[in-house]
Amino acid sequence: MKKKIDVYEYMGEILKGVKSGILITGKDENKTNSMTISWGMAGIEWGKPVFVTFIRESRFTKTLIDKNGEFTVNIPLDESAKKILAYCGSKSGRDVDKAKELGLTYEEPETISVPGIRELPLTLECKVIYKQTQDIHAITEEDQEKFYPQNADGSQDIHVAYYGEIVNAYVIE
Ligand SMILES: Cc1cc2nc3c(=O)[nH]c(=O)nc-3n(C[C@H](O)[C@H](O)[C@H](O)COP(=O)(O)O)c2cc1C
Repeated sequence: MKKKIDVYEYMGEILKGVKSGILITGKDENKTNSMTISWGMAGIEWGKPVFVTFIRESRFTKTLIDKNGEFTVNIPLDESAKKILAYCGSKSGRDVDKAKELGLTYEEPETISVPGIRELPLTLECKVIYKQTQDIHAITEEDQEKFYPQNADGSQDIHVAYYGEIVNAYVIE
């Protein structure tokens, strides 16, 4: 069962979740996959409630979001998801089926095609309304050095900002 929520009333839970780690889930015709994030923000632009996630170019989840333009945000409401967050933040969906390995329970979505996850019950269904590769030159030199060292091939695995309009929000009960 899903308990509908007013996303503005849950901003505290959402941002507390981001700080300690939450999941972003994407899906294409072949695969559903989740990755851990701890950079993100929630607010308003173009008069819409949005969740913004920052995903490095190398992440498998990025390919899924680029394909269908949708994702769910999966937020734990207690400490029980620590193992899930550690696993989804260290393994890639290119190599393993994370949901199968962890025994995650997908919850049928209502508005988009990407499921929620019962084990991380606070769920935001999001449709990408804007995305932008971050401009390395607009970042302080200090943070460029800290977060974007050059790889051997010259690439820097920059973050892409995905603005997801929150089209549905609920707690899986
Ligand atoms: C606590 C934590 C926070 C993370 N935050 C982010 C993030 O905000 N953006 C990002 O691109 N990667 C982040 N990562 C790394 C990805 O979760 C990790 O590379 C993951 O294996 C990618 O999975 P995928 O290849 O299946 O997409 C984080 C990892 C951890 C453990």
